[in-house]
Amino acid sequence: MNSIRIAVVGCGAIHSTHCDAIQQIEGAKLAAVVDEVPERAAAASQKYGAQAATSLNEIWDEIDAVHLCVPSGLHHKIGMEAALHGKHVLSEKPIDVSIDAANSLIKTCRTSGVKLGVVSQHRFANDIQQVKEAAQSGAMGRLLEGDMYNKWYRSQQYYDSGDWRGTWQLDGGGCLMNQGVHYVDMLQWIMGGVKSVQAQVRTQAHQRIEVEDIANALLEFNNGAVGVIQGSTSVYPGMAERLEIHGLYGTAIIEADRLKVWKVDAEGSQLGLYGDGVNKQPTPKLEMHVPSPESQPTGAGDPTAIWGEQHRLQIEDFVRAIADGRDPFITGEMALEPLKIILAIYKSGQLGGQVIEV
Ligand SMILES: NC(=O)c1ccc[n+]([C@@H]2O[C@H](COP(=O)([O-])OP(=O)(O)OC[C@H]3O[C@@H](n4cnc5c(N)ncnc54)[C@H](O)[C@@H]3O)[C@@H](O)[C@H]2O)c1
Repeated sequence: MNSIRIAVVGCGAIHSTHCDAIQQIEGAKLAAVVDEVPERAAAASQKYGAQAATSLNEIWDEIDAVHLCVPSGLHHKIGMEAALHGKHVLSEKPIDVSIDAANSLIKTCRTSGVKLGVVSQHRFANDIQQVKEAAQSGAMGRLLEGDMYNKWYRSQQYYDSGDWRGTWQLDGGGCLMNQGVHYVDMLQWIMGGVKSVQAQVRTQAHQRIEVEDIANALLEFNNGAVGVIQGSTSVYPGMAERLEIHGLYGTAIIEADRLKVWKVDAEGSQLGLYGDGVNKQPTPKLEMHVPSPESQPTGAGDPTAIWGEQHRLQIEDFVRAIADGRDPFITGEMALEPLKIILAIYKSGQLGGQVIEV
């Protein structure tokens, strides 16, 4: 089988996670590194031994796929150009910053017959997959509440480090659209989708950003459960991100992708606590492994503290999807869900906390 020849477009903070991963994957070849700033493309080219370019127009004939590591509001534009040239597209998160832009990208990739994947690497974390399985299989009983806390910290210097950071046009939002989108996606994936939101959205601490640095929302999920989203980039020094999932039979808590608490009474023997007649459903029993409590790397306070294993797994899946002619594990359509939730939270915040349907 010929290797899939990939161009990584955008040689900033996240590009090395992609380049390192591609170089480890059998059947993938890092063919080119592209940045509109020639020095950045040249530096990546020197490090990875791949061709440097300042525009994809220089290299269409030499690639099969692009990885979009450019500012979020450019994903649809560059992704659609690639699709129209017959190239597969793996976009960094978020898919883009508006529903229209995201839909255009999805449609163009579908009609061009190319694969579209969107990075949401935490879906590849083993413990998150286990809790998703437990929640959706009924092993936790009827789901009651799902909460997500992403109390992170980003300095003003971080926002000043790129013209696009903290802007509505290219970042599309702040602590939720950029940092929180990961765990918004985990929460809605585990719980089975969000129906409506009611939010407070503020810029509380930073001086030179257009977007929010605190956002809180009350949720109703599609299955009738309720919950909370708390996102921030103004909580110093930044706390590890958490998911708290509560079903009728107990609780799962994930912190920085690791299962910290698994207290589920699979037999339902405690259910007298809720009154008679609650525990009539037989429930699947799951063996859950609660890992040792050593600390995990997290981007809570440091944007460079990104660990590459989950990216590697997602990129490997994307390469296999191209080779096998199937959809990637996370499609463009799936990546619309967290975007819709975040945009609904922004709208609710603007309207003084009105309930907004997702
Ligand atoms: N999955 C994750 O954990 C994760 C982590 C960080 C960033 N990201 C995402 O990756 C994307 C990039 O973020 P970053 O922090 O690396 O940004 P960055 O500013 O560090 O890098 C972006 C690069 O894109 C280049 N660029 C801009 N416009 C271009 C164009 N038209 N053609 C070619 N190059 C262009 C810039 O010169 C810059 O080098 C964003 O969408 C962000 O949300 C994802």
